[in-house]
Amino acid sequence: NEDVIILSIETSCDETACSIIRNGNEILSNVVVSQIESHKRFGGVVPEVASRHHVETITLVIEEALQTAGLSPPDLSAVAVTEGPGLIGALLVGINAAKAFSFAHELPLIPVHHIAGHIYANQLEEDLQFPLVSLIVSGGHTELIYMKDHMSFEVIGETRDDAVGEAYDKVARVIGLPYPGGPHIDRLSKEGEDSFNFPRPYLEPGSYDFSFSGLKSSVINTLHNHRQKGLEVKSADVARSFQESVIDVLTKKTIQAVADYEVENLIIAGGVAANSGLRAQFEILCQEQDIKLSIPALKYCTDNAAMIGAAAYHLYNNKAFGDLDLNGRNYIDI
Ligand code: KG4
Ligand code: ZN
Repeated sequence: NEDVIILSIETSCDETACSIIRNGNEILSNVVVSQIESHKRFGGVVPEVASRHHVETITLVIEEALQTAGLSPPDLSAVAVTEGPGLIGALLVGINAAKAFSFAHELPLIPVHHIAGHIYANQLEEDLQFPLVSLIVSGGHTELIYMKDHMSFEVIGETRDDAVGEAYDKVARVIGLPYPGGPHIDRLSKEGEDSFNFPRPYLEPGSYDFSFSGLKSSVINTLHNHRQKGLEVKSADVARSFQESVIDVLTKKTIQAVADYEVENLIIAGGVAANSGLRAQFEILCQEQDIKLSIPALKYCTDNAAMIGAAAYHLYNNKAFGDLDLNGRNYIDI
């Protein structure tokens, strides 16, 4: 049997996830248990709460993934796990489960970078085509990455302060929307207008770096000033204005990178890639400029284990295996 069947585990933040993937793109099962309800009342993810939920859930999630796929451990080729970046306590739960599984069933262990996973979510629909530029936008990351081949990542730009998703979540909180705020701002912005015209943080000419904390402060200050003066503010307009600024900056810098690096393929990935305004604007620009655009289906944009299994397929072929001394890392270069 030449099929490569990988069981993959993802616990870097607030989803406990396990998936089984055949040959890098065929999903046999994909289980995601979200902890969002537990973190909501704190307005964000509480790391210790996250770790405890992962401990409670991980074994059940692995069992369910096997059961749904109708497989047992001897059918598997390897076990893959997110090694970082992420919340260290949360990562360690997945890593220890993966190590135990690998040891007990004598399967190779494959450590996977979380961002590689987000990028390879696109492979679940279609093979990646190189060279490419990828924009990663999530709660923890905002990065532009150039790839000339599989598993070769060159970071050409990144955020100097807040990640986009983080800015979304903080602005949402000030508007009074529940955590995580991204999807709520996305929805609300459809009913509003770009009336505030917030700054577009482009930084120095030629830079692919990002900065969203100034924009975030600008939104928060504007809201406070209006409220102090007793002026009425339409939340939908704030949401729309904030989102338009984010979309302008993300699309312009990304399309510039595509031109400068002379690539024809663009990948958008990460939780914020679920944003309808961002997807629509990228679709228009890429069509105009003959760029081949890939964005994962919505459920593969936010954290899941299928994307980790998709990336792990190439690591398996390269025999990039880890040992039982594998440790979690909250910061790790891709
Ligand atoms: O990739 P992800 O699930 O976790 C990280 O690796 O960070 O991304 C979560 C982030 C959150 O900040 C959430 O607000 C944001 O993705 N997000 C969105 C949307 N859906 C999720 N942001 C904007 N628009 C959306 N539709
Ligand atoms: Zn993520």
